[in-house]
Amino acid sequence: MTQRDLIERLPKAELHLHIEGSFEPELMMQLAARNRIDLRFKTLDEAKAAYDFSNLQEFLDLYYEGMQLLRTEEDFHDLTWAYLQRAAADNVRHVEMFFDPQAHTARGVPFGVVTEGILAALKRGEKELGVTSYLILSFLRHLSEEDGFALLKESEGWHDKFVGVGLDSSEMGHPPLKFERLYKRCRDMGFKLCMHAGEEGPPQYVREALIDIGVDRIDHGNRSMEDPALIQILKDTQTPLTNCPLSNLSLCVIKDLKDSPVKAQLEAGLMVTVNSDDPAYFGGYIGRNYEKTAEALGLSDAQIVTLARNSFTASFLPEAAKAKHSAAVDAAAG
Ligand code: HPA
Ligand code: ZN
Repeated sequence: MTQRDLIERLPKAELHLHIEGSFEPELMMQLAARNRIDLRFKTLDEAKAAYDFSNLQEFLDLYYEGMQLLRTEEDFHDLTWAYLQRAAADNVRHVEMFFDPQAHTARGVPFGVVTEGILAALKRGEKELGVTSYLILSFLRHLSEEDGFALLKESEGWHDKFVGVGLDSSEMGHPPLKFERLYKRCRDMGFKLCMHAGEEGPPQYVREALIDIGVDRIDHGNRSMEDPALIQILKDTQTPLTNCPLSNLSLCVIKDLKDSPVKAQLEAGLMVTVNSDDPAYFGGYIGRNYEKTAEALGLSDAQIVTLARNSFTASFLPEAAKAKHSAAVDAAAG
């Protein structure tokens, strides 16, 4: 079996995916026509040519611009449904999906429109594709902690629909401790806690997320590798890291896929996973992330299987479901 076949056959969970980052130019063009909105880009090629970033902020500017096209419940359904079909084709069996409500409510799209559209597609994904899903409410860290509390209040009617909360957007200058009270409240409410940290920010940000806030999962976490004592804590606690190799490459977090920390993290015994982040912008869904990473780093078959197994272990699924998926990983590995 080639590694490509192995990757295709392995059941996988995707744990770091921003649904707004799966907005493909083709769907953008369709929604621009449906909602009668003028697009800055007139052709698909023009739109794709804009996808050349040198840092996180340059990506975020385009990411928020693209979202202007999402207006109706149907739009959010179509976006989510398109992602689920692609994920299912890559043998993703479970997804834990971020969405950024503040990016939509700030431009007048009601929270319920966004959430109900996404939820309708997730329900359909489970029924028609057999892909299970959890939704993660993400706070924008360039906004204030008060804005985060306001979102928590606004979303009250839907709290049973979210497994947890996340923190994304511009990392530098917006450390985890800016959101200490908000995260304490979310913890007390029973939400799982995720946080982007160490994508561009220093190891200190990962320490704050892990030690001061007590998150359940670190999104990205690349720069942890600069801090040996932090690596030891990540190993001892088996705190999952949701790495996104093609995102790291696109946003110049790494210069070359050969510099991806995934292999070193596997060899250090960390609970690392491979994910796509914003697949429409970064050149690939989860299968391509596994393939390109395995190729660049020369991962062994056993290491690829470990990544698939980790994806379920690191999920928020109940233990019984994790065990069932892990058995399916072993069966596919042969
Ligand atoms: N980092 C921070 N914010 C984001 C990202 C990311 O990788 N993707 C979407 N919002
Ligand atoms: Zn992300």
